[in-house]
Amino acid sequence: AYDAGPYLPSRGGLAAHRRAAADCQGCPLFEDATQTVFGKGAESARLVLVGEQPGDQEDRQGEPFVGPAGRLLGRAVEEVGIDMDTAYVTNAVKHFKFTRPPGGGKRRIHKAPELREVAACRPWLLAELRLLRPEVVVVLGATAAKALMGSSFRVTKDRGALLPMPPGALDQDDQPYVVATIHPSAVLRADDRDSAYAGLVADLRVAASALD
Ligand code: URA
Repeated sequence: AYDAGPYLPSRGGLAAHRRAAADCQGCPLFEDATQTVFGKGAESARLVLVGEQPGDQEDRQGEPFVGPAGRLLGRAVEEVGIDMDTAYVTNAVKHFKFTRPPGGGKRRIHKAPELREVAACRPWLLAELRLLRPEVVVVLGATAAKALMGSSFRVTKDRGALLPMPPGALDQDDQPYVVATIHPSAVLRADDRDSAYAGLVADLRVAASALD
């Protein structure tokens, strides 16, 4: 089965994990991607934001949320009074998955990861959370939400609420709250962008309210 587990270092902090993740071959996505895109941000972050997977720009630059979705996310986060420099951003899946247009064009079209690819990558995400010990984790969209909360989780039903982590996911005393919301890319694609954006901001406000 696909599994990043064997590639995780048995000790060390975020830097050691980032270095090890660069060589991850826990699923086939490493083959076509440019590089692993590990999480980025303050080691002291009280807030962690989790996306789906790196996009085209992130794959090229090696950092999460540096493209259009990232700019929108940054604006929404700052709007609820959080300095982006105090947060940590990462993805459920750490390699870019894409297809080419039929006929063999050069454009790279984002493709949703399979459940088994999300499951394979989960040890990296859980390690990030274990090392950061944030107060609140915001899961952006269905992929991140299911990665953390389980496959039956529905963002449309349970977004914008302070939720506990599922029991046993993180083996530690202090458990973060989880807030689910839509993905910033979904805001960019929405027919009514303004109301989709307002919904994202409202959910982020719930997350912000739980920060000390
Ligand atoms: N979308 C994501 O889910 N993550 C990124 O890093 C960029 C876009």
